[in-house]
Amino acid sequence: MGGLRRLEYRGYDSAGVAVVTADGGPLAMAKKAGKLVNLEDYLAAQPLPLGTAAIGHTRWATHGAPTDLNAHPHLADRGRLAVIHNGIIENFAVLKAELLATGVVFASETDTEVAAHLLAKAFVETRDLAEAMRIVARRLEGAFTLLAVHANVPDVVVGARRNSPLVVGLGDGENFLGSDVSAFIEHTRDALELGQDQVVTITSDGVAVTDFYGGAVTPRRFTVDWDATAAEKGGFRSFMDKEIHDEPKAVADTLLGRTDPAGGLILDDLRINEAVLRAVDKIVVVACGTAAYAGHVAKYAIEHWCRIPVEVELAHEFRYRDPVVNEKTLVVAISQSGETMDTIMAVRHAREQGAKVLAICNTYGSTIPRESDAVLYTHAGPEIAVASTKAFLAQITATYLLGLYLAQLRGNKFPDEIREILTQLHAMPDKIQSVIDHAGPVRELARSMRDAESVLFLGRHVGFPVALEGALKLKELAYIHAEGFAAGELKHGPIALIDEGQPVFVIVPSSSGRDSVHDKVISNIQEIRARGARTMVIAEEGDTAVEPFGDDVFFVPATPTLLAPLVSVVPLQIFACELATARGLDVDQPRNLAKSVTVE
Ligand code: F6R
Repeated sequence: MGGLRRLEYRGYDSAGVAVVTADGGPLAMAKKAGKLVNLEDYLAAQPLPLGTAAIGHTRWATHGAPTDLNAHPHLADRGRLAVIHNGIIENFAVLKAELLATGVVFASETDTEVAAHLLAKAFVETRDLAEAMRIVARRLEGAFTLLAVHANVPDVVVGARRNSPLVVGLGDGENFLGSDVSAFIEHTRDALELGQDQVVTITSDGVAVTDFYGGAVTPRRFTVDWDATAAEKGGFRSFMDKEIHDEPKAVADTLLGRTDPAGGLILDDLRINEAVLRAVDKIVVVACGTAAYAGHVAKYAIEHWCRIPVEVELAHEFRYRDPVVNEKTLVVAISQSGETMDTIMAVRHAREQGAKVLAICNTYGSTIPRESDAVLYTHAGPEIAVASTKAFLAQITATYLLGLYLAQLRGNKFPDEIREILTQLHAMPDKIQSVIDHAGPVRELARSMRDAESVLFLGRHVGFPVALEGALKLKELAYIHAEGFAAGELKHGPIALIDEGQPVFVIVPSSSGRDSVHDKVISNIQEIRARGARTMVIAEEGDTAVEPFGDDVFFVPATPTLLAPLVSVVPLQIFACELATARGLDVDQPRNLAKSVTVE
């Protein structure tokens, strides 16, 4: 149950478990709609027997409402076979029609149940659960991780994966399968990466992996560099609170060990020839949601430092608009989970067009780094709260490292200039800590605004993606209408939204710097105040010019402009978290969302 709890962030529409007992009797199963706690309460009253193997699942509904019946596992073969599934079986309607024609009766509305009945049939024919899985996997289209147990083979769990995550945990006299390592981290940190289109069989003392046709495969072994305590709340009232407090460490760890003895920058896993990187004439960042906003920040930094054009593209739009990419394009895929299907598909499309792909990812063993040509890992540690916070800061940090690496490689900056920026970057964790330590007034403001109906966010330059991220956090956590705008765009339309008392956050850029837009943002504040807005201003310490114009002013430590998002976004994360908490909402598991969106 600990494993399911740690995976609950991936989906919390329902949960279920099935247990195989050594006596070969029918499987014991329990499943309940709603959060895992419903299943836990049920099992506390009616415990399942101890068994030799078990499978468990938390669901983010795709096919069929989040009911008890549609919860996984799904049974077949008169209750002797159970299946759990992540992903979508795209050809399920055809397969279901075929099964119905042979008299199979379905108990749920899910696509998953098709796989259960197909497996049952294949098992009757082969008497071998792994072979049955291979036969079925070859017939399925779409994305799936499937796990199955059968009462006739009580010490075996078989899994298959295509386009959906699955990792193996190697224990002592026990082995595990999980969507990510947090499922088994309390038992082992040794793990195996599974590749695309592979079938795995685990018993208590063995692991065997094949492709979908039975060919043997040797999976790559890795060790997880964090332990179970990193995936616990550690005394905080929510994972999100804890993860915001983890931010200084997430940034510091992402910066750690990036220079070689000669002072040059190093990436983790670079399978791209340096000559190819030197010849890159365009960078396209592909990512979704918060990760895409990290990409927006990267655009400002990389274009400035490297003089390479950078485009930022939502991954789900990328391959459908026939983008211009070729062997001179570097595609940078940013993903906390490494399993976002939209981003995976963008990566594949980019590689098909001949582009090199560099992944910025927080999850070892996940699909995106495995399918990329180079990887820069963020070391944010496990992010359990569904809304991304510390991973965002780590992603931004990683893009700075990438920018500096390219500047070094292409000779856009002198080594001492790079060293200077790195020194400034190394000072960021303390500055972020200071923002967290002084967040009392932000929290107070958030509590006082628990009944707000709409909040706007304005930013300019790197403050623009920060405004977008502030709005996203508030929408997803507090279910309040929130919009982020480029401050300069206001007068082109959105200013019509400003009315008496409309709360507006404004991220004020640094007043230093040659091309400062500081004064223009101050003018924007005056324009909205003149129309009745309540202004909540985030500005750099010492910026006395803003004070007269903010109903509330929150100061963050002074930083070089390009690095400012690492501090200016933190009050907005805290604001959203505190406001949602004050509304009595679950900030770790906002409604309708899932941590890894493994469907397109
Ligand atoms: C928002 C959030 C999402 C993710 C997005 C991409 O708080 O967490 O917008 O950023 O779904 O996820 P990854 O980074 O796992 O690809």
